[in-house]
Amino acid sequence: MSLKDQVVIITGAGQGIGLGIAQAFARAGSAVVINDVNAETAQAAAQSIVAAGGRAVAAPADISDRAQVTAMCDAAVAAFGKLTTLVNNAGWFAFTPFLEQTPDAWQRTLDVDLSGIFHCTQVAVPHMIAAGGGSVVNITSVHATATIPGTVAYAAAKTGVVGMTRTLALELGKHNIRVNCVSPGAISTDALKKYFDSLPPDRREQEQTHMLGFQALPFFGTPEDVAELVLFVCSDRARYMTGTELVIDGGVLARLF
Ligand SMILES: NC(=O)c1ccc[n+]([C@@H]2O[C@H](COP(=O)([O-])OP(=O)(O)OC[C@H]3O[C@@H](n4cnc5c(N)ncnc54)[C@H](O)[C@@H]3O)[C@@H](O)[C@H]2O)c1
Repeated sequence: MSLKDQVVIITGAGQGIGLGIAQAFARAGSAVVINDVNAETAQAAAQSIVAAGGRAVAAPADISDRAQVTAMCDAAVAAFGKLTTLVNNAGWFAFTPFLEQTPDAWQRTLDVDLSGIFHCTQVAVPHMIAAGGGSVVNITSVHATATIPGTVAYAAAKTGVVGMTRTLALELGKHNIRVNCVSPGAISTDALKKYFDSLPPDRREQEQTHMLGFQALPFFGTPEDVAELVLFVCSDRARYMTGTELVIDGGVLARLF
């Protein structure tokens, strides 16, 4: 299915990587449904895409809440007549040492980063089957493969998404639905800024230099870099690709020492 014929929900698209993905789909002619738990940023993102000549509506929802997810998918079909594509991008994290991690923070991370993808995909797929097929892309992370201390819930959730991706690919291929995941490394967004801001001021620049030192490329990625890959995965050029993880990380996972 050409990108022009796709109706795509992007979760967590009020800012950051999700917004970059939404703008790229809109430029390619797709109809985009901007989800975010933050209704204000979702509305602003949809309005900016429409102002630039694209097709977009906002569908705010907390993806960890099944009823809100159902309403979000219904809104997509009501706005554009069908649903063909789902980008599970919304994410939440609180990096904390394991012994200090609260059960609430553990649970919230799993509710959003893992169960949220289960809910969105299970609710969206019947609409995609009715449309004759489509594509699901889950935004995971390099933390699904190699990680740092303090990420117990985030790494567990992101690793779980890779497993979920494989199972769903196997079950949904017969419906002409491909399921893949994209694992970014360090991408310049508010989430990365939040991480740097969590450090003492005198350690921020040092940490940035330290992180770049692990990469093969001497710069962080952008939401547009991730969007390019997601669009490729959702296009017919990737018609034989399913159940796989695509890493976009400046080479950070290539390093042994
Ligand atoms: N930025 C990075 O370096 C990086 C690296 C690897 C993976 N990722 C992943 O990419 C995705 C996007 O990250 P980002 O950097 O753009 O983050 P971000 O924090 O800038 O944006 C995330 C968006 O998700 C929304 N969101 C949070 N909880 C939600 C919920 N329950 N329901 C709906 N929306 C919700 C937020 O409101 C926000 O707009 C996440 O899944 C993240 O784990 C980011």
